Amino acid sequence: MKALVLAGGSGTRLRPFTYSMPKQLIPIANTPVLVHVLESVRALGVTEVGVVIGDRGPEIEAVLGDGLRFGVRITYIPQDAPRGLAHTVAIARPFLAEDDFVMYLGDNMLPDGVVPIAEEFSRHRPAAQVVVHKVADPSAFGVAELGTEGEVLRLVEKPLEPRSDLALIGVYFFTPAVHEAVAAITPSARGELEITDAVQWLLDSGAEVRASRYDGYWKDTGRVEDVLECNSHLLEGLSRRVEGRVDAGSVLVGQVVVEQGARIVRSRIEGPAVIGSGTVVENSHVGPHTSIGRNCLVRDSRLERSIALDESSVTGVRELRDSLIGRAASVGTTGRGTGHHCLVVGDHTRVEVAA
Ligand code: TTP
Repeated sequence: MKALVLAGGSGTRLRPFTYSMPKQLIPIANTPVLVHVLESVRALGVTEVGVVIGDRGPEIEAVLGDGLRFGVRITYIPQDAPRGLAHTVAIARPFLAEDDFVMYLGDNMLPDGVVPIAEEFSRHRPAAQVVVHKVADPSAFGVAELGTEGEVLRLVEKPLEPRSDLALIGVYFFTPAVHEAVAAITPSARGELEITDAVQWLLDSGAEVRASRYDGYWKDTGRVEDVLECNSHLLEGLSRRVEGRVDAGSVLVGQVVVEQGARIVRSRIEGPAVIGSGTVVENSHVGPHTSIGRNCLVRDSRLERSIALDESSVTGVRELRDSLIGRAASVGTTGRGTGHHCLVVGDHTRVEVAA
């Protein structure tokens, strides 16, 4: 089996970050989402991986390289524009050849793994095996209606009155039968070749489509709130590791990772939290549920349930919560008693200050 990992797309919901980086490289517990995805693929025993890339491909190639570091061999498949998930299957045809494959959305996190689902697929080899997850608001998703034997009867995109609470999530297994379906469908109302249309085409043509339930933790990291939530969840699974320097005036509580070359001075780090290499935390309180990237500075500040990306700084900020701070961004104060805020805010940025 091969893997097709989708790392193109436009990432509009994650602006302004996606103006300068592909969303699949946003760090969760200080590791890019896409690296978590590759690890999940590798756990299936799959080593041949096609990675679909768009405009921001070079940055993805710089991080993943040839894949050997992650135990896989990567073939990059450039997509000229985000023309839909089924379009990626069409352009990957030469790479996929006549092999079965798992298609994995590069912004989806399924940290509990899909090994049993892959095994089920290999046992039955239906034309398509979709992965479904119980959600609270099925009308926001593609929804699968299932028969008693796990077979899919119907797929409905964003149903007004959902007949099931099982939403399709970002992993699909296919035999080469999908290629005929992809070639047969036409773009949807939003102008994309939809993978749900290809799966529906298979169903309509009488092919077998099965569904497997994934009951573990799942998150589509498409929005800031999702990224923060997923980060909190993954940090919960950390084990304590302190490789950096922690001075006598500092306290580490619970599951805390201090990477090599980080320095903690007169501070309290409350786990779960991770402090990246080369970062200095001074006279501050960080955590819980907080990731600080590499080469950052946190001074005289309080930071909770947040992510600071590499080379950013937070200085003199009394209380920062539920925040995502971009690469090399700085958050500071105007000085005592000035009574005003001073902001340099880029396009599509969101700032919330105390009332
Ligand atoms: P989406 O999150 O559905 O689309 P998007 O990246 O355009 O994001 P937004 O809705 O915020 O604008 O895409 C799911 C995954 O598939 C994501 O990793 C991007 C990838 N993708 C491609 O590689 N090619 C495509 O044509 C599309 C639509 C998505």
